[in-house]
Amino acid sequence: MPAARAQEIADYVSFCPLDQARVAALRPHVEPHFGRVVDRFYDEILKRPAVRAALGDSPEVVVRLKTSLREWLRTFFTGPYDEDYWCRRRLIGEVHVRVGVEPRYTLAALEVVRQEIERAVIASGFPEPTEHLSSVCKLLALEAAVMLDSYSEAYSDQVRQLERSAVQERLTQSEHLARIGRLAASLAHEIKNPLAGISGAIQVIRDALRPDDPHRPVLVEILRQINRLDGTVKDLLVYARPKTPRIEVCEPERIIERVRAVLLREPDFQRIRLEHVAVGPPFTFRADEDQMEQLLLNLLLNAAHASPDGRAVRLVTSLSEREVRLVVEDQGHGMDEPTRQRAFEPFFTTKARGTGLGLSICQRIVESHGGTIAIQSQRDRGTTVTVRLPRHGPEEVETGQ
Ligand code: HEM
Ligand SMILES: Nc1ncnc2c1ncn2[C@@H]1O[C@H](COP(=O)(O)OP(=O)(O)OP(=O)(O)O)[C@@H](O)[C@H]1O
Ligand SMILES: [Mg+2]
Repeated sequence: MPAARAQEIADYVSFCPLDQARVAALRPHVEPHFGRVVDRFYDEILKRPAVRAALGDSPEVVVRLKTSLREWLRTFFTGPYDEDYWCRRRLIGEVHVRVGVEPRYTLAALEVVRQEIERAVIASGFPEPTEHLSSVCKLLALEAAVMLDSYSEAYSDQVRQLERSAVQERLTQSEHLARIGRLAASLAHEIKNPLAGISGAIQVIRDALRPDDPHRPVLVEILRQINRLDGTVKDLLVYARPKTPRIEVCEPERIIERVRAVLLREPDFQRIRLEHVAVGPPFTFRADEDQMEQLLLNLLLNAAHASPDGRAVRLVTSLSEREVRLVVEDQGHGMDEPTRQRAFEPFFTTKARGTGLGLSICQRIVESHGGTIAIQSQRDRGTTVTVRLPRHGPEEVETGQ
C-alpha cells in the first residue's frame, strides 16, 4: 500500500527508469562528498535551538543521525526504489514524530541536501549535469512526498492513541467515583443515625443542667461539633446520591437572600463583605432553587475562606439571551495551577477541616442543569468561579420529558 502511494507520486513527477539511471550515474561523483553533505546538514540543525532540541543533547543520537543520513544518501543514489525501499523511508517520519522533528524542518533539510548534491556534482566537473540534476530533484520530491505521508500517518496514530487513553482515563475515573460514592453513602448512613441519637442525648443533659453549670459550655461545644459533623455527612450523602433537579422558576434575589441568611451564621463570613452586583434588569430562570442555594453557598464559603479580613467577595449575576451567569469573585490567596486542576476532584482539599466535596457538589449541580462551571485563579490575586446555566433549565425540562 505505501509502495503504491509512492508509485503514484513517482508517476506524478514522471520519475522513470531514465531518471533512475541518471541518478545512479552521479553516484561516483557525489559519494566522495557525502561527508560534506552530512556536515552541512548537521551545521544547519545546530544553528537552530528549536531544531537542535530533537537531538536531546545526546552525542550518541548525533552519531546515529549522521550514520543514518549517510546510509540514506547511499541508498538514494543506488535504489532499487522498490516496496522495501519506500517502507524503510516511511520509518523516518515515524521516528521524527517520536523525537519531535517537525515536517517543515525536514523539508528544509532536504533542500539543504539538494544544494550540497548540486554543489558536489558541479565541483566534480560532471559534463552537462542539468538533466541529471533534474532527475535528482524528482527523486527528492518523491522522498519529500513519502516523508510527509508518513508524518501524517504517525500524527493520526498519535491522536488516536491520545483519544483512546483519554477515554480509558475517563472510564477508570468514573468507576472510581462510583465506588467512592457507594462507600460514602453507606458510611454516611452508618454515621447519621447514631449522630442524631448522640445529639438528642446531649441536648437532654444540657437542658437538665442549671443555667450557671460550669459544664454547660462544654456541652454547647460538643453540640456545635456534632452539628459540623452532621453537615459533613449531609454533604457526603448529597455527593453520593445526587438528586435530579426539581425545576422551578427562580429569582436570583430570593436565592441570594436565603444564602445571606445562612451565611450570617458563618464566622468566616463575618470577616468579609458580600457584594451582589446584578447586571441589567431583574430576571428569572428555571432551575432547582435548593440546589442553586447550595451552589452559591459552597462557592461563597470557599471565597470567604480564601479572603483576608475586610475584603469584598463579589457575586455578579447576569443574563444573556440564552444563559444565566453566576460569577463569584474573591481577592483571596488564589490557587496554584495544580490545585486549580484538582479543585473539582471529590475529597480534594487543602484545608485542615475541609472535606473537599464543596466544588464536586457544585460541579454535579451545574452539570445536572446542563451548565458549565470554570475556575480562573491567580496566586495571591484571587479567584473567579464562573457558572453558566441555560436560562430555560436542562434540555429534558424544555421538551417536557
Ligand atoms: C533531509 C532530511 C532528513 C532525513 C533524510 C533524515 C533521515 C533520518 C533517518 C534515516 C533516520 C533514522 C530513522 C530510523 O531509525 O529508522 C532519522 C532519525 C532521526 N532524525 Fe532525521 N532526517 C532528516 C531531517 C532531520 C532533521 C532536520 C532533524 C533535526 C534534528 C532530524 C533528527 C533526527 C533524529 C533526532 C533522529 C533519531 C536519531 C536516533 O535517536 O537514532 N532529522 N532521520
Ligand atoms: N475561592 C477559592 N480560593 C482559593 N482556593 C480555593 C477556592 N475555592 C476552592 N479552593 C481550593 O479548592 C479546594 C477544593 O474546594 P472544595 O470546596 O471542593 O473543598 P473544601 O472547601 O476544601 O472543603 P469543603 O468540602 O468543606 O467545601 C480547596 O481546598 C481550596 O484549596
Ligand atoms: Mg469548599
